[in-house]
Amino acid sequence: MDKIRIHGGHPLSGSIKISGSKNSALPILAATLLTREPCIIHRVPDLSDTHYMLQILTHLGAQVERASGTVSVMAEKVDSVAPYDVVRKMRASVCVLGPLLGRCKEATVSLPGGCVIGDRPIDLHLKGFEALGAAVRVEGGNIKVFAPKLNGAVINLRGKFGPTVLGTDNVMMAAVLAEGITVIEGAAKEPEVVDLAHFLNKMGGKIEGAGTPRMIIEGVRELHGAEHDIIPDRIEAGTFLVAGAICGKGITVKRVEPAHVQAVMNALSSCGFRIESSPNSIAVAPNGLPTPLEIATEPYPGFPTDMQAQICALLSTTDGTSVVTENIFPQRYMHVAELKRMGARVQLDGPTAVIQGVDQLFGAPVMASDLRASAALVLAGLKADGITEVSRVYHIDRGYEHLDEKLGELGAHIERVKA
Ligand code: EPZ
Repeated sequence: MDKIRIHGGHPLSGSIKISGSKNSALPILAATLLTREPCIIHRVPDLSDTHYMLQILTHLGAQVERASGTVSVMAEKVDSVAPYDVVRKMRASVCVLGPLLGRCKEATVSLPGGCVIGDRPIDLHLKGFEALGAAVRVEGGNIKVFAPKLNGAVINLRGKFGPTVLGTDNVMMAAVLAEGITVIEGAAKEPEVVDLAHFLNKMGGKIEGAGTPRMIIEGVRELHGAEHDIIPDRIEAGTFLVAGAICGKGITVKRVEPAHVQAVMNALSSCGFRIESSPNSIAVAPNGLPTPLEIATEPYPGFPTDMQAQICALLSTTDGTSVVTENIFPQRYMHVAELKRMGARVQLDGPTAVIQGVDQLFGAPVMASDLRASAALVLAGLKADGITEVSRVYHIDRGYEHLDEKLGELGAHIERVKA
């Protein structure tokens, strides 16, 4: 098992290119199950999570080929059972349920297990399938959904913590092959949901309102193959912008959609950093002493929960008192204990973290617990005095393509070592 070792205190400068979006690639790859014709997906990031999804598609009978960032899938015949062994490695596997139900009118997928970022039920997904006329049963650790046919319906997918991203994706992928009109109220508006809707429309789907809380899906009899470019990864872009803020002399992220990263840009400029954007790049640079921040995570276009840990790392060395509130996954603070091992001063009170900025963090051996928490520890290590060793970096490889190499290109003294 690898570790990442960081020699802190070396300023970052220069530019890097952003990869395709993990959270767009996963549901789009699952959507290829909706047609027996070939689909070609470009800019699929080289991550363990995308590999897991391709393993699931292969297991379900699809022919899958991958050549660097391009994946071609042909699901001429599909099996509708995705067992525990392939599904347990990745929660997002749940998004094969919708395509299998849409295409085969039945699906059996292992129920996702626990998650360190908090309670992650799928009741809204199942509620959506039931509204389309499917019978839903949970037995032996599996979800079984089946329906002789699916009928359009009006479905509200807004839950206690707001809309559900993969729930919206799953119901959309089932409804696209249902009879009649489906209206999703309280739909998630994330760019990844819009990207999936674009792909489904290229396949012959009739989806309107993607990116708004109300989506209208007119069911079609069948879908055909399509070719698609995955959107840039806005969370990877945000992570590098925070890296540039935490210890940069000025860096630029390229091949990015600035509109998708607006909330992160707003947060960094509120802290006092200079932010400049052009049609597909964003530059961040210091602009005097940064100032503390009060911020809360919200569904898109609000400040993303997937950037909360990284902003905590930045605020831990920003002079003054900052307050971060996590509204999507209230317990998502596994990174705090590790940041405190590096000298950060953070007080947790339920979903809120009160951060007293310190002058200096100190390098230490720290443990990654989940994807974004591990990115935050790497960012803190860039700033810290001395050496930080982040273990369990397989968490990072789930969602960041070559993070250590890209940081190295920007001047970080960082290496991957065998544990
Ligand atoms: C997606 O997860 C992302 N994953 C997550 O990114 C991201 O944190 C999350 O959206 C929120 O933005 C992928 O796209 C693969 P949700 P998802 O359903 O769809 C509650 C990363 O780091 N809820 O939008 O699983 C839920 O518990 C990952 O890349 C229900 O109550 O999240 C949460 O509090 C981590 N019932 C809230 O809604 C449901 O049926 C939002 O969850 C579904 C969700």
